[in-house]
Amino acid sequence: MRVTIFGASGLLGKALLREWKGPDEVSGLSSHDADLRDPAQVNAAVERTKPNWIVLAAAYTDVDGCESNPERAFSVNRDGAVHVAQAAARTGARLIFLSSDYVFDGVKTSPYETGDARNPQSVYGRSKAEAELRLIEIIPQCCIVRTSWLFGTGGKCFPDTILRLAATRPVLDVVNDQRGCPTYATDLARAIMELCRKNASGIVHATNSGDCTWFEFARAIVAQAGLPTEVRPVSTQQMARPASRPAYSVLSATSLRGYGISLPTWQDALRRYLQERAA
Ligand SMILES: NC(=O)c1ccc[n+]([C@@H]2O[C@H](COP(=O)([O-])OP(=O)(O)OC[C@H]3O[C@@H](n4cnc5c(N)ncnc54)[C@H](OP(=O)(O)O)[C@@H]3O)[C@@H](O)[C@H]2O)c1
Repeated sequence: MRVTIFGASGLLGKALLREWKGPDEVSGLSSHDADLRDPAQVNAAVERTKPNWIVLAAAYTDVDGCESNPERAFSVNRDGAVHVAQAAARTGARLIFLSSDYVFDGVKTSPYETGDARNPQSVYGRSKAEAELRLIEIIPQCCIVRTSWLFGTGGKCFPDTILRLAATRPVLDVVNDQRGCPTYATDLARAIMELCRKNASGIVHATNSGDCTWFEFARAIVAQAGLPTEVRPVSTQQMARPASRPAYSVLSATSLRGYGISLPTWQDALRRYLQERAA
């Protein structure tokens, strides 16, 4: 199997390149190899690498930045994804598209199922939701993998920020009214490989199991790292940010289980992340 990964220089992309074992031929592309906004560059990359599967993990992921730069959000996240889907459709490649829990509004109080209505509350979420709809039109059998709260050693992420701040501050204030599923890039990368091998299609929710608030996540990070820093719960209102985030964006594991895949708890994933970070 030949696999082409768009977004290979990102958090998930690096984990995919690291974890993709076996006989497959894997090509990783950054924005320097092919800018998603330019269909000619996307087509040339797909024609050069001749993939059976494309994993589209590239995106403009700065959720607050998307609010002040919606043109970039839509041109990369929606239009760029369309360019990749068109190249995939033309060459017959299968497509896995990475999407987000932020396509939901967060008003539910039980885990979001794949069929629940999209109602994004931010520019980033809207760009992902619109991309999903366009991709399903272009390639009805494409696979949309929604994930959430990604962390890993390949770039900036929440645990890394908490550990850096905790090294110099005795107290950290962290929001306690947004609940979601932290997801370790290594575990998600393994799930994506499995989904390719199982010829997955349709929408799949893929996160580590269990859920927490950012405060609970931060408290676990500090505790597992053995730091004395106090973590205090605060409200979203107290920590105003440009983009609105869902209060509840726990993704149900039912669709992933349908492929015989289940991911470890986020606490176990955090332990392995801290080991990997220290190595
Ligand atoms: N991070 C999260 O918490 C989270 C949560 C839910 C869903 N997701 C989704 O999961 C996927 C992977 O996220 P991530 O955290 O690994 O992202 P990331 O670390 O921010 O990496 C983004 C990747 O996209 C590439 N990229 C950005 N603009 C591009 C462009 N115009 N053309 C081509 N490539 C471009 C970057 O390439 P350069 O390095 O060359 O700029 C980089 O490889 C994304 O689709 C994201 O929306 C992420």
